[in-house]
Formats: sequence, structure tokens, C-alpha cells
Amino acid sequence: METKLFDFSRFDIKLETVVLGRDFVYLDETDSTNTYLLSEEGDDKPNGTVCFAEKQNKGRGRLERTWSSLKSNNLTFSILINDSDFIAKYLNFINLGTSLAIAQALETLFQFTPELKWPNDVLVNGKKISGILLESSSRGNSFNKLVVGIGVNVNQPVFHGEYNLTPTSVRLELGTLIDRERLLAEILNNLEEVYSTFKDGTDYVLNQWRNRCKMIGEKVTVRDGDKELYGIFTEIDDNGYILLQTERDEFQTINFGDVSVHL
Ligand code: BTN
Repeated sequence: METKLFDFSRFDIKLETVVLGRDFVYLDETDSTNTYLLSEEGDDKPNGTVCFAEKQNKGRGRLERTWSSLKSNNLTFSILINDSDFIAKYLNFINLGTSLAIAQALETLFQFTPELKWPNDVLVNGKKISGILLESSSRGNSFNKLVVGIGVNVNQPVFHGEYNLTPTSVRLELGTLIDRERLLAEILNNLEEVYSTFKDGTDYVLNQWRNRCKMIGEKVTVRDGDKELYGIFTEIDDNGYILLQTERDEFQTINFGDVSVHL
């Protein structure tokens, strides 16, 4: 299949941000863009630096999973956030806001109706199109570096192997090859806008999230390692956590693990 390397100037012309992506590290191959920015390489980079790789050899997902992505087919990149006040205040909303911004970009460019799956998966037609992995390094009691790692399946025509959620790509859903450069710019443009709403409160991100989260009101299973909890996913609370009504009719706040609808 015809794969093209990422064309930085096509991306840059569409980028409307002030901070995000203004410093850009392009790598042909690396272990993981998250690892790159968490390492010393990320220490002297400015806030908002994006590290992009055509291929990751050890791409990581949440809950110790791997993230595999065919070379030059998709978007695999990480964003460095080193504003420790921003991290301390909004950590959980950075998580929710990132998946929201990706969903909005997919809506605008491709007229999809993406669904958000707590805490940060983006699904299209019930299949996973994007995942996010937040990782941090801390100094003393405060986070000094947060890395927001994003994988979006764009042009990959086929997915082999076993997945916890069936994967898809934009191309698979639309049947055409997609401009990765335009999509990356649109995601970063949306992301900067979503992050900028936090200072006025977190209602915007929470409400936009709730509108796109189909699990609210459903019976779900929450898994965290060997632990399993069942209940009704009643709400996303003001901290961005799940409010679960358990079988014993108690309400429990969940801020970890994997959630699936159980039939
Ligand atoms: C998940 O859905 O489990 C999260 C997947 C996150 C994948 C991205 S790809 C860029 C960045 N580097 C990594 O190693 N992981 C994230």
C-alpha cells in the first residue's frame, strides 16, 4: 500500500495554535514517543512540544497493553506539558479533554459521531479509533512533566492480533486515504482550545464529554487487574470520575480501570 512520510509543512500551514505543536520533534523510528519525552530528551523542551514518530517499536497502551501501529499509516505522537500548576490543577481534565478534542476533530473533518469511552478511548461505529496514555514524572510532591501520548488509527487498512476492543481506522470507515497532516493540526487546534476552557471552569469539558459518552445509564463491569465491580454507570461526576451504583445500591466513585457494558 502507498504510504507517504509525514509532510511537516502541510501540517504547519494548518496549525493555528500558540503553544501546542509549535516545537516539533519528528522521528522516523523510536521505542515510544512517550518514553522519548519522559527521558532527558524532554527535559529541555518547551511546554507544548510534540514528538511525532512514523513508527514506534515499543508503543505502549493503558494498563500495560501494547499499542501497535503500521509505519507511516497513523498518528502516534506525544505532547509535553511541563507547566506544573496546570498539571496539578487539571490532571483529570487533561485526560478527558484530550479525548474530547480528538472526537471533535473527527466530527469536523469526517462527520463521524464518535463515542467516548471512559476514561479516554474514542470509538467510531463502536470500534476503537484512538487511545490516550498519560504518563508523568514527578519531583518531590509535584508533577513536573506530563506526557500526553496519543494514537489515532488513520490509514491502517487491516489490524492483526487480539484486541480488547475491535480497532478501526478513519480509512476503514470512509474507504479513502486520509491526510494525516490535516488531522494532526485539527487535533492540536481543538486541544489547545479545550485546554484553554479550564480556567473558566470544567463544565464545558464535562458536559461535552457526558454528551458523547453512551455508557451513562448502562449496566457496566469495571475491571482493575483481578478486581471486578458491577453496577450502573450513573454519571460522570464533577471530578471526571464514574459514579457507579453498585448491586447493593451504594454509590461508589471509580477513577481507575477498564469499563465495559455488560449485557
Ligand atoms: C490506549 O488506548 O491504551 C492508549 C494508547 C496510547 C498510544 C499512544 S501512541 C503515542 C504514545 N506513545 C506510546 O507509547 N503510547 C502513546
